[in-house]
Amino acid sequence: KKVAVLISGSGTNLQALIDDSLKHDSPYSITLVVSNVADAYGLQRAQQASIQTCVVDHKQFKSREEFDNRIDQHLKSHNIDFVCLAGFMRIVSDQFVEKWRGRMLNIHPSLLPSFKGLHVHRQVLQAGVRVSGCTVHFVSNELDGGAILTQATVPVLPNDTEDDLCERVKTAEHKAFPEALRLLTSQKVMLGQDGRVIWL
Ligand code: GRF
Repeated sequence: KKVAVLISGSGTNLQALIDDSLKHDSPYSITLVVSNVADAYGLQRAQQASIQTCVVDHKQFKSREEFDNRIDQHLKSHNIDFVCLAGFMRIVSDQFVEKWRGRMLNIHPSLLPSFKGLHVHRQVLQAGVRVSGCTVHFVSNELDGGAILTQATVPVLPNDTEDDLCERVKTAEHKAFPEALRLLTSQKVMLGQDGRVIWL
């Protein structure tokens, strides 16, 4: 199965997906990386792995729909089957979500449904919870609200800074995302009409 990864930044999750895709038993390959940020380090990771890249700068578009449409054109021309949002810092339009319904995953650095949105590790530390983690979920039109595929937990340690927690959660992300993408691309799960995961 052909997978495109959408990024805006460093791309450590992209790297984890690339590494997993190169294993002999992987059901998917990463064939396109799209970034809305021209100097995102993740683009270099892709080029290093000889994966095609393109930059679609959201600032060049009048509306979210036009921006998403351009991305969609790239996905179509590369015959992409599945899309992963890996640190892609744009909200996608309802139209785009509908087009890729059941075929688009996002990773979020908390145990959803807790701590949606931005500054997640700060929210976690402020709440004083002792466990955090990450969630891979289908993308729906509710922000960080789609059906959950995989989660992994990490402890929140005394005196953790946001950076400490971010780093610990990322280690968990790098396992959870490939695991979720394997489930989806090997048809072990699908998204039901009611928006819930069906385990096949
Ligand atoms: C990750 O923490 C992910 O959960 C969030 O954005 C971050 C991306 O990090 N959505 P990276 O670019 O994969 O290193």
